[in-house]
Amino acid sequence: MANTLEGKVIIVAGGGNGSGRACSLAYAAAGASVVIGDINAPAAESVREEIARQGGSASVFEYDGSDLDSVRSLVRFAASTHGRIDGLHNIAGNPTLHARDLDLLNSDVSTWEDAFRSHFSAYAVAAQEAIPVMIESGGGSIINTSSGMAISGDSIKLGYQVSKRAAELLTLHIAHAYGRRGIRSNALRYGVILTANAKAHLDQAFLDDACERSWSGRLGEPQDAVGAALFLMSDAASFINGQIIEVAGGKMSGIQG
Ligand SMILES: NC(=O)c1ccc[n+]([C@@H]2O[C@H](COP(=O)([O-])OP(=O)(O)OC[C@H]3O[C@@H](n4cnc5c(N)ncnc54)[C@H](O)[C@@H]3O)[C@@H](O)[C@H]2O)c1
Repeated sequence: MANTLEGKVIIVAGGGNGSGRACSLAYAAAGASVVIGDINAPAAESVREEIARQGGSASVFEYDGSDLDSVRSLVRFAASTHGRIDGLHNIAGNPTLHARDLDLLNSDVSTWEDAFRSHFSAYAVAAQEAIPVMIESGGGSIINTSSGMAISGDSIKLGYQVSKRAAELLTLHIAHAYGRRGIRSNALRYGVILTANAKAHLDQAFLDDACERSWSGRLGEPQDAVGAALFLMSDAASFINGQIIEVAGGKMSGIQG
């Protein structure tokens, strides 16, 4: 994959930790200029420093995915700094939901709306800002991050499930509406990826059960998210549009779809 992203400008919205960090490093190693957006500025800065140490190019923009004006500012920063945008990787989630996004009778409208803002509206607004810039510079690739929970019908995390399904439909909508103008839009539907966020919020019984049901007999590491993302950002994927690709080691037994 060396230098396959040479000359491309890629925004990673949520690139400071976990799989966003791994993808930021990989994009830069493949030659892209990476704009690392994150609410955690020190984490994003440490990714930028690591990229710089390896001779790559990156910048940092602090933003908050739950504030849609802030999301717009991230994309405008990338466009004004580089004059083009070739890739947008929407990856940030909303870790504040874990404790309150439960079942229907034990969660409330504000929680569902927060989930929707973070996983649908933030991704949609970023794409809304980026697509005209991408079209201007000849096209681009958008990756939205989904979850196996989008299709699980689980008995908890109602807001999360619905908002991740919405992110998938957003992905298909963009692919269909703008494919003729050079925009490709695909989603990565993760299984359990052992990021710091996942380790902090998922209990061991859940992780053990998920591992037991995984067709691959293991859970994901942040690096497992890199291969599909690199491919989708590259010209090798120029005829791949509107796909939801599972990065999950296969299915988990018990999850349909
Ligand atoms: N980790 C998993 O097991 C798993 C499984 C399925 C789907 N996902 C999805 O993958 C994506 C990445 O998950 P993750 O586990 O790395 O956690 P995460 O989304 O919390 O972390 C990714 C980065 O996003 C940043 N971030 C968090 N809130 C933000 C905000 N409001 N604004 C801007 N940046 C913010 C974090 O600082 C972090 O650097 C999320 O969309 C998540 O829903 C994760």
